[in-house]
Amino acid sequence: MAAMLANLVRPIKIKTPDSDFGRRKLSPTPSRTSIRCLASGKSGERSYTLTLLPGDGIGPEVVAVAKDVLSLTASLEGIKFHFKEMPIGGSALDATGVPLPDETLDTAKGSDAVLLGAIGGYKWDKNEKHLKPETGLLQLRAGLCVYANLRPAVVLPQLVHASTLKKEVAEEVDLMVVRELTGGIYFGKPRGFGTNDNNEDIGFNTEVYSASEIDRIARVGFEVARKRNGKLCSVDKANVLEASMLWRKRVTMLASEYPDVELSHMYVDNAAMQLIRDPKQFDTIVTNNIFGDILSDEASMLTGSIGMLPSASIGESGPGLFEPIHGSAPDIAGQDKANPLATVLSAAMLLKYGLGEESAAKRIETAVIETLNRGFRTGDIFSSGMVFIYQLFSFIFFYLILQFSCCYLMIVGKHV
Ligand code: IPM
Ligand code: MG
Repeated sequence: MAAMLANLVRPIKIKTPDSDFGRRKLSPTPSRTSIRCLASGKSGERSYTLTLLPGDGIGPEVVAVAKDVLSLTASLEGIKFHFKEMPIGGSALDATGVPLPDETLDTAKGSDAVLLGAIGGYKWDKNEKHLKPETGLLQLRAGLCVYANLRPAVVLPQLVHASTLKKEVAEEVDLMVVRELTGGIYFGKPRGFGTNDNNEDIGFNTEVYSASEIDRIARVGFEVARKRNGKLCSVDKANVLEASMLWRKRVTMLASEYPDVELSHMYVDNAAMQLIRDPKQFDTIVTNNIFGDILSDEASMLTGSIGMLPSASIGESGPGLFEPIHGSAPDIAGQDKANPLATVLSAAMLLKYGLGEESAAKRIETAVIETLNRGFRTGDIFSSGMVFIYQLFSFIFFYLILQFSCCYLMIVGKHV
């Protein structure tokens, strides 16, 4: 399997003490002295080109936060970033007439990684399909061939009260949805509009998967599960859909190559129910494009807010695409109310899975945890006793700086 995929799955092991962003590694009151002052173990200057795609709604706000966090992290780690900002979605439609201009795709393809904010908004909702902002995003995913979409859902102890589920159900949830991203009903043909035998208007789509498409995403699922707790649940609708029947057959066939992974199968309707009833039973879920879209939104609510969930989309080669799973939230756009954490954590995933800069990623995760530990909350994750603020940005920034103790006094002067 390609080096990038190896990189993608290698750092996911979450039970080791120094690995991923997740509850198991958090100490309730992290000590400042335990945080290293100077740059990572990597030596020499590393230079990367990052394409930023702010998009629509709250996208520009949250990407601006992530950009500043990335810039500061880069200076702490001896990394150099060249940012290239390009239009996508509704803002690209307004500026160029298409939701994904060629220049945007070319720039993205030519960079080391891509960070996207969000796309869409009321203004373009009634556009024809090829002129919808969402079409631009799908073209980008297809153009970058990023078929494996990782969506972690971790209920942090600091946010367990923000979950709509009972504490005992939500606490310690730590799961990963591996969503197939460039196939299935999103891309299947035939699709379109027409009329039926009664001359009635119809709309139709095709759920289609080839064996090779299933195999490659199933392998990612197995690899991810192997690096986590060794449990993989494949979600399908094999009691009804042919595409799911083939899905189940191929996943089952591959299981013999991963004897260390415990494979189970679940119908999607049951999975939707089990995610609410007993989410802790899940470790890694692998599923198709549309089921992954729906189940990852559902999983996000276990964590308290969709504003918390980052994602990484990776292919065999080329740059990965990193984006929060939330949408453009036009109702709160431009008001500094948006929770930037999903995008900031997507930037951490970009560093870790896209660039292999694990130490830099860790810095960001630590700053986010520190911000939450101190009780700072945006509205979507607010619970009583916490400090309500519109923007978490200055606090993330502040706790990043705290990791660089020689800057400490200077920054305290500026930020407190
Ligand atoms: C997501 C979104 C997208 C999807 C939309 C905006 C096209 O819901 O990333 O989950 O359906 O994949
Ligand atoms: Mg979605």
